[in-house]
Amino acid sequence: MEIKKKKVAILASGSGSNAENIVNYFRNHEQIEISLFIANKKDAFVHERAKRLNIPCYYFSNKQFRETQEVKDFLVSQQIDFLVLAGFLLKIPENLLKVFPDRIINIHPALLPKYGGKGMYGEHVHQAVVEAGEKESGITIHYVNENYDEGEIIFQAKCKVLSGDTPEQVAEKVHALEYEHFPKIIEKVVLG
Ligand code: GAR
Repeated sequence: MEIKKKKVAILASGSGSNAENIVNYFRNHEQIEISLFIANKKDAFVHERAKRLNIPCYYFSNKQFRETQEVKDFLVSQQIDFLVLAGFLLKIPENLLKVFPDRIINIHPALLPKYGGKGMYGEHVHQAVVEAGEKESGITIHYVNENYDEGEIIFQAKCKVLSGDTPEQVAEKVHALEYEHFPKIIEKVVLG
């Protein structure tokens, strides 16, 4: 008997390197498929990656996310089971949280609860970590709730921040942790 695969949608706002890494991990997976990407920026590089990867990538504006049911209706019509935020910078609206309770996860490029919240994304996070003289940083994978970066933590991994490291160097170490762990944690969580 053929198993019905769990369908995952990835939401991204920028480059999409995590999205690409996740797609590569789940190619030929027996129980999980990455069905589509959603981007809230028309010119985000994730659209190019999607083309190359042969994954459909749909644009929805911030207004559509915040003020309409269109995103939710679309995801339901595509029979999506699970949402993964990979560099997605818009707050998830309540209608999506309702339809996907405990089925939305995010990755944050720091050790939450430090360096989280509105405006704390990408380079801003690494800049703040370096300026504060932190000795370590890392990644946090967590469930998404109605507040930025406050949902239950699923997994964290650490890397060293050496004195003299630039934000770019910290970003590189953090990206390496993201690529190593995020797909495996998605697999665990989606399969329960
Ligand atoms: C990743 O480092 C991710 O952790 C971060 O944005 C980057 C996206 O890179 N997310 C946040 O800062 C969320 N607050 P990518 O587009 O190349 O995957």
